[in-house]
Amino acid sequence: MSILDICRKRWSVRKFTGEPLSAADLEYLKEVGRWAATSRNRQARRFVVVHDRDNIRSLVEEAKMQDFVESAGALIFGVAEDGSSGSKVDVVISLTQMEMAAVEQGLGTIWLGIWDRDVVRRRLEIPGGMAPVVALAIGQSAEVGSPRKKLPVEDLFRSETF
Ligand SMILES: Cc1cc2nc3c(=O)[nH]c(=O)nc-3n(C[C@H](O)[C@H](O)[C@H](O)COP(=O)(O)O)c2cc1C
Repeated sequence: MSILDICRKRWSVRKFTGEPLSAADLEYLKEVGRWAATSRNRQARRFVVVHDRDNIRSLVEEAKMQDFVESAGALIFGVAEDGSSGSKVDVVISLTQMEMAAVEQGLGTIWLGIWDRDVVRRRLEIPGGMAPVVALAIGQSAEVGSPRKKLPVEDLFRSETF
């Protein structure tokens, strides 16, 4: 599958089967995330994979995540240097690559931005100076869905000036 095919196939899944991600799929996603570009190759970002079903369940409850998140096969939290916009961008680049890899593997994905930062910081034992930015939920989709409508290229891209 080409990158374009993967991009055209991706859509936000809000109902997963609850089946855990296989070890092979997880290793593949980690390797893909590892190779992402980072500002000055500082690699100043980390990821916390929450794979254990009970941990997912209790995290969803405590951090006030949306109910459907409980059915995900794994959650991957991106953690950046606190207050560093560059580090946040680095997190997003890696997670984007991982999302594409997940779709390539036939998995469903969704970005998650709505959750309690303080609870996640404590629950994931994120050290001082680092902060959770955004998360990806990944798993087998239990939904029949399709990609949402996107802006046409002519609206999205301008030539030379805005
Ligand atoms: C940074 C980011 C955070 C998001 N957070 C949530 C979220 O917390 N809950 C949710 O249901 N969807 C969330 N989404 C999914 C968006 O709503 C979704 O990407 C958008 O509606 C477009 O749909 P598509 O992903 O199927 O193309 C998030 C997306 C992004 C990029």
